[in-house]
Amino acid sequence: MISSASRPSPANLALSRKEDFKEFVDAPRRMQPETLNREALRALGATVRVVYDRARREWHANLGPIRTPQLASLHEDLWDVVDSNLQDGDKAKGAVAVDAFPGLGKTTAVLAFAREFHRREIAEHGAFTAQGHERWPVCRVGLTGNTGMKDLNRAMLEFFGHPGRQNSTAAQLGLQALDCVLSCEVRLLILDDLHFLKWRKTSGIEVSNHLKWIANEFPVTLLKVGVGLADKGLFSEGEAAGETILAQTGRRTTRLDMPPFAIDTEQGRRHWRQLLLAVEQRVVLADTYPGMLADDLSDYLFARSTGHIGSLITLINRGCQRAQRTGAERLTQDLLDRVKNDEAAEEARKELECALHAGKATSRPHTVRAAG
Ligand SMILES: Nc1ncnc2c1ncn2[C@@H]1O[C@H](COP(=O)(O)OP(=O)(O)OP(=O)(O)O)[C@@H](O)[C@H]1O
Ligand SMILES: [Mg+2]
Repeated sequence: MISSASRPSPANLALSRKEDFKEFVDAPRRMQPETLNREALRALGATVRVVYDRARREWHANLGPIRTPQLASLHEDLWDVVDSNLQDGDKAKGAVAVDAFPGLGKTTAVLAFAREFHRREIAEHGAFTAQGHERWPVCRVGLTGNTGMKDLNRAMLEFFGHPGRQNSTAAQLGLQALDCVLSCEVRLLILDDLHFLKWRKTSGIEVSNHLKWIANEFPVTLLKVGVGLADKGLFSEGEAAGETILAQTGRRTTRLDMPPFAIDTEQGRRHWRQLLLAVEQRVVLADTYPGMLADDLSDYLFARSTGHIGSLITLINRGCQRAQRTGAERLTQDLLDRVKNDEAAEEARKELECALHAGKATSRPHTVRAAG
């Protein structure tokens, strides 16, 4: 066990072990450093300035999670499912799949949910089970490249710190994992980046079977997270051979999406603006001003991120680091132009910029444009 004296730095948490997960759940909210104006900044002594700048760098690198409409609606849906899954253990429970493109905030939203769920369960039922085991309401496994069934089972055991034997078969490891899940009274099993699971040519029937076994035998809500899960045939009605098996999985799985921000409707533009206002309040630079992002950089930021929250946050984070380092102390188009963003966002940017420049599109709500 990790004592609070040797609390690991949040930067070192891998969340693949229960102790790390607990640290994540119990970690107090980061405190936003106070925004100092230029004068106050100059007045800081050298040592204090170093500490302050370090605090700002860490803060900007960990913005959020911001309660976006996507995150809020995902959480509502997840609560519906986990709360309706209170049937007795002998009934198969509904599963959920969060299936969306990379960088849309799936992992962030799911972890934020897991944290709330863990806290609620511990508050209601206590930290130990009736049998005296530690209670772990959530088990979270992040898959890595080319994980097979056996690795998946082993990863579950690793979460619990159970020394799964090297020479055990996939089935034996699976049973040991089931044992951990039962004794720790796990209620939510999260499999993140499920698309990394090895999908055989046999249209994933083996995988589907295994997940079905978990869904049937484990008294948990299974939460699958990944990219293009539908395309992998995870919930499709399937073809010929595996038809019934896949259909069964499909029938029990609720698919939830996390769409990017879009500016083709007034409501979409309003959501985009609210996101920028929320981000703006989190920027700790001496020369920030209201409307720095939401008014002056709205179109620009949309073009550079194409409405993907991951790309937006990366850009803002890097921009803030640069503004702080160079002494610019505010975000401008000029400064952000020099900041590189991820490849996918850069690719999509050009086309969108043309439309925005030509006045064919705008990211700002009508009401704001009329007022401004
Ligand atoms: N609600 C949010 N508030 C603040 N930042 C967010 C939010 N959602 C996502 N981000 C930022 O976007 C980045 C990408 O998000 P995340 O890793 O959750 O996406 P993902 O959909 O899981 O992507 P992948 O499919 O690549 O795993 C995060 O590192 C985080 O900085
Ligand atoms: Mg992810």
